[in-house]
Amino acid sequence: MSSDASSAVAAPRALSTVPGPRGWPVVGVAPQVRPESFHRQLEAWSGRYGSVFAFRIGGRHFLAVSDPETVAGVLRRRPAVFRRTTRLEQASRELGFLGLFSASGDTWRRQRPMVLAGLDPAHIRTYLPALTAITDRLRRRWLDAAAAGREIDLTADLMRYTVDVTTSLAFGHNLNTLEASTETAIQQHLNVILPALFKRLMSPLPRWPDKALAGHVIALRAAVQEFIAQARRDLAEQPALRQQPANLIQALVAASEDAAHGITEEDVSGNVLTMLLAGEDTTAHTLAWLFWLLYRNPQALATARAEVDAVLGAGGQVRAIDDLARLDYVEACANEAMRLKPVAPMIMNEACEETVVADVLVPRGGIVICLLRPANLDDAHFPRPMQFDPGRWRGGPGAAASLSSAKRVAMPFGAGPRMCPGRYLAIAEIKMVAAMLLAQFDVVDVSAAGVDEPRERLALTMAPVGLRMSLRKRPAA
Ligand code: HEM
Repeated sequence: MSSDASSAVAAPRALSTVPGPRGWPVVGVAPQVRPESFHRQLEAWSGRYGSVFAFRIGGRHFLAVSDPETVAGVLRRRPAVFRRTTRLEQASRELGFLGLFSASGDTWRRQRPMVLAGLDPAHIRTYLPALTAITDRLRRRWLDAAAAGREIDLTADLMRYTVDVTTSLAFGHNLNTLEASTETAIQQHLNVILPALFKRLMSPLPRWPDKALAGHVIALRAAVQEFIAQARRDLAEQPALRQQPANLIQALVAASEDAAHGITEEDVSGNVLTMLLAGEDTTAHTLAWLFWLLYRNPQALATARAEVDAVLGAGGQVRAIDDLARLDYVEACANEAMRLKPVAPMIMNEACEETVVADVLVPRGGIVICLLRPANLDDAHFPRPMQFDPGRWRGGPGAAASLSSAKRVAMPFGAGPRMCPGRYLAIAEIKMVAAMLLAQFDVVDVSAAGVDEPRERLALTMAPVGLRMSLRKRPAA
């Protein structure tokens, strides 16, 4: 039996004795759970029962923890003591996208270095020209909307952007959904598959809810096979790419051709799909929340714009990776948006063996949910926690007690060996799009109809519902 650093010396408590919502016989709390707002329900329970509580859905026992040290302790004890849930692994395998996010054990160990290498800061640097070109397409799309006085469907446009970036950077494929007049096939399929996967994970019975799903999965897999076939053609035409692949898909395909790497055909297609799924919603929703928060906080918006003007100068465009590095306040705004609106508000872990978390005995197969937001909104860690105050990430007035402790508390990209490998790319995308918006446009409105604050909808990631944005071209731009 293993235990985390914070475990008490005394004998651990049994999971069944830990306070929490008791629920009904047989079904447990299932009748109270609304999948779309499950995170809010868990956060409310955390407010009522404290930073460690337990509950049951059907025959499955859950422990939820929200104290940052306990959370980090669980996340760091992967892959040996905790793994992603077997339910996620099973569902992903059935869909054909068992990749880095859902894999466990040796499969995960084989894949992780390859994906990390494809998304490390050195690669992001070489991606800059492509990132600049795609950001420019988004600028043109928003200029057209501003000229026509048209409202922008913020989430839809940002998802076009992130799909274009992922396919270009990870697969070397210029999909260009930003300039397509209608939703492209890939987006249509992703928009059905992601919510269906989430419903399947949340359902008491492990079955697929949507009959039309199979058609979307087959079509998306066909699109992915086309990316892979292209990578094979590239490797055949330029064998030197096997040693120095230009992108992630070439690296995966080259590894699959060499038995020593143990990468299978299934691993290749699983990871291509995983990149699309992991890179699309997360970054797009973070940007949407950021723009809504900036619009609501004109002082922060003005400070961010002044920084963008000073760094980018008259042209208003990012020309070098160092420009991005100097957008310090913009990055602080992104950190603050992720503190208040973490798009991955919880991380589910399954115990590979009997273990102790805090002072609770978790059986093998028990699920430990790490809740990320309660600590972000606790004034013990962040003074005036409900306030959007990017200055706290830079050591100014209102700063968190110490910047490094703030970074340890807020974990929007997770922690430990499975921490998000896409974080450098995500931050680069966020800074590129935010700088483009601030340099080129006046923000006239960012809101959801009829509500003061957009509803949070959880479907694997936490999206703002119905955000629309209106822009005016900036006179000086
Ligand atoms: C703002 C944007 C993003 C956020 C907030 C985010 C957040 C996360 C979180 C919380 C995890 C789980 C970490 C853990 O278990 O400790 C994760 C994992 C992952 N993310 Fe991201 N992510 C973002 C963007 C991206 C992008 C752009 C990509 C790739 C194109 C990506 C690829 C992945 C992958 C492959 C994993 C699984 C890693 C593993 O299990 O080893 N993410 N992300």
